Amino acid sequence: MDELVALCKRRGFIFQSSEIYGGLQGTYDFGPLGVELKNNIKNAWWESMVYENDDIEGLDSSILTNPLVLKYSGHEDTFSDPMVDCKSCGKRYRADQVPKECKVEDLTEPRQFNLMFKTNVGPIEDGSSYAYLRPETAQQIFTNFKNVLDSTSKAIPFGIAQIGKAFRNEITPRNFIFRVREFEQMELEYFVMPGNDEEFHDSWVQKRLEWWNNQGVPMESIEIYDVPTEELAHYSKKTVDLMYKFPHGLEELEGIANRTDFDLGSHSKKQKELAINSNVKENKHSNSKMAIQDSSGEWVVPYVIEPSAGVERGFLAILNEAYLLEELEDGKTRVVLKLKPHLSPVKAAVIPLKKNSSELVDSAKQIKKDLQKLGLGRVILENTGNIGKSYRKHDEIGTPVCITVDFETLNDKTVTIRDRDSMDQKRISIVDLSSYLTKLINN
Ligand code: GLY
Repeated sequence: MDELVALCKRRGFIFQSSEIYGGLQGTYDFGPLGVELKNNIKNAWWESMVYENDDIEGLDSSILTNPLVLKYSGHEDTFSDPMVDCKSCGKRYRADQVPKECKVEDLTEPRQFNLMFKTNVGPIEDGSSYAYLRPETAQQIFTNFKNVLDSTSKAIPFGIAQIGKAFRNEITPRNFIFRVREFEQMELEYFVMPGNDEEFHDSWVQKRLEWWNNQGVPMESIEIYDVPTEELAHYSKKTVDLMYKFPHGLEELEGIANRTDFDLGSHSKKQKELAINSNVKENKHSNSKMAIQDSSGEWVVPYVIEPSAGVERGFLAILNEAYLLEELEDGKTRVVLKLKPHLSPVKAAVIPLKKNSSELVDSAKQIKKDLQKLGLGRVILENTGNIGKSYRKHDEIGTPVCITVDFETLNDKTVTIRDRDSMDQKRISIVDLSSYLTKLINN
């Protein structure tokens, strides 16, 4: 973990948030390379969910959430951790994470501490008008269920996907970007007919394993954990966690939950007219019937399968898998990030052999401009004049290819391509660069 943290800071992937003022615990800022990697992970997820499945639609809902949403979702009552205060050191801990130095007799009885952030809405700060920062992106997918259904003429089964920020007032944020207070989720709520839920649950577990594999987190690195009943979230009938060996230990990378009809049932009006299987709170406020009519005209509240992944956790797992300290034949070592090319923050670096040669620099600039237009992601001109140093930097940040422009280029319109993983170099024509890079990134 220390090596990853150091690399992230050194190369501009991740910085501590508000660092110049001592930081703000549980928050991080993504730097020039971090924002690229993060966007690439999110785009890969979005493509695999929304663009590759005609039965899945996207959504981007608000972060500020009406308290009624989180009252009926059960979060106001149950989204909490048991906390104890230590009378000796004056600190507060999660009941299961008290350090050894605190004596049992110094601890208070556990009290529930709600994890949601509350914020004042409007000009009056007397607490009468407030909203929550959403603790999961899922809830507004449920509240928009009818809007999406009606505006897209979808039929069950269908899904709604969303990527966005979520907030949790974790008592002890820790392990770098693994447990933080502000993070991003990639969530799909897939609505199915009751009775088909278990089959869809199994198939989503398989699909998600395949997706992680395609991002460079192989199935062999993931353990499947069937969450025991006593550990299930209040809405879940069954949850399968994909557990990954993070540098700090085996922890959840993604959870795939069967949320049954709990959420739609909770947010629905006229609940008594619907055969809701879950134990839901009586809803006195909703103006929408969260149900569909089956072929015989009966009202049915769909069940929901939810694959829910954390972007930061994915980022950390992908980085951890890609990071390699490699021994070279000449006895030296190199750090290399063997990222899948579609995730690499920089797709190609174009390097003029001599920094001060205007002919070489102009040619490199033109190549960069042309490759940038392909829309594959960021291509950069690396004009340091030090080829060895440039190769080392691009190995470390995971750039799949370096393209060197030298004096031969001016004569025969060829460049040298250096492959990140094999370090092999070959010459190719400038006219073939576009198809070479496109194939490499899209593979
Ligand atoms: N939506 C599931 C979670 O936030 O854990």
